[in-house]
Amino acid sequence: MRVLAFLWALGFLLNEAQAWSIKNGIFHNSIWLERAAGVYHRESRKGKYQLTYREAKAVCKYEGGSLATYDQLEAARQIGFHVCAAGWFDKGRVGYPIVKPGTNCGFGRVGIIDYGYRLNKSEKWDVYCYNPNAKECGGVLTNQQKIIQSPGFPAEYQDEQICYWHIRVRLGERIHLHFLDFDVEDDTDCLADYLEVYDSYDDVSGFTGRFCGDYLPEDIISTGNVMTLKFLSDASVSAGGFQLQYTAFNASLFSHNYTTN
Ligand SMILES: *[C@@H]1O[C@H](CO)[C@@H](O)[C@H](O)[C@H]1NC(C)=O
Ligand SMILES: *[C@@H]1O[C@H](CO)[C@@H](O)[C@H](O)[C@H]1NC(C)=O
Ligand SMILES: *[C@@H]1O[C@H](CO)[C@@H](O)[C@H](O)[C@H]1NC(C)=O
Repeated sequence: MRVLAFLWALGFLLNEAQAWSIKNGIFHNSIWLERAAGVYHRESRKGKYQLTYREAKAVCKYEGGSLATYDQLEAARQIGFHVCAAGWFDKGRVGYPIVKPGTNCGFGRVGIIDYGYRLNKSEKWDVYCYNPNAKECGGVLTNQQKIIQSPGFPAEYQDEQICYWHIRVRLGERIHLHFLDFDVEDDTDCLADYLEVYDSYDDVSGFTGRFCGDYLPEDIISTGNVMTLKFLSDASVSAGGFQLQYTAFNASLFSHNYTTN
């Protein structure tokens, strides 16, 4: 059963080699290209499906962008942008871009899963924004080991930053995060500034933790070969920032004698 599923997946990967493939032992997918088309997905700080149309517009505007149009979303999708969460886009339309067919998402179809123009603009969804000039921070990291720092570290980070780091190591490896310094504006529930860690290739699934304040988070170990870190700072108050080191290790060693320090 497992083998069949794998072969099916492999067949799919070969068919969709452009958008979704294993290259140099690294699984490439949508988020890899997330910023390439200037389109990106956002959800409310309160969680999934919490934004009215008006709030959705405000989220994009806050970051200097605007709601993505259907054509921008489709252009992004064609180079591999895949998100399993319905969001507002231009003119009050709702939908999401699917590259890889799945039964849990997109009803097995690929394309823009289109919920149409919503008559009720008070409905709550996520949002798709467009901003080809978004601030540069974060990136896709494939080294076996690297230090990740908040923008400008060791100087204080700036207000209104949004950075995504997507870590991808070889298939069969896992990722060990070890925090070296941590000082991010403290507030209850970390709603102002925060660092989030996801045990997945995007910031939709695999939420592992949201961190702020000045205590050093404990080490975090991925379950697979990808992880996403998201740093967000709001419009006021910054702090010293953070740095952490990630290290790839062979997953097969983990169950036997791997220990964290
Ligand atoms: C519009 O959607 C909101 C949120 O789902 C709901 O509370 C409200 O009743 C809806 N209004 C109408 C007229 O259907
Ligand atoms: C992990 O270690 C095992 C056993 O030493 C080895 O067979 C395998 O090729 C290694 N995998 C990677 C990705 O290094
Ligand atoms: C785990 O054990 C193997 C064989 O006993 C050894 O080669 C390897 O270096 C060990 N790994 C760690 C992380 O201690």
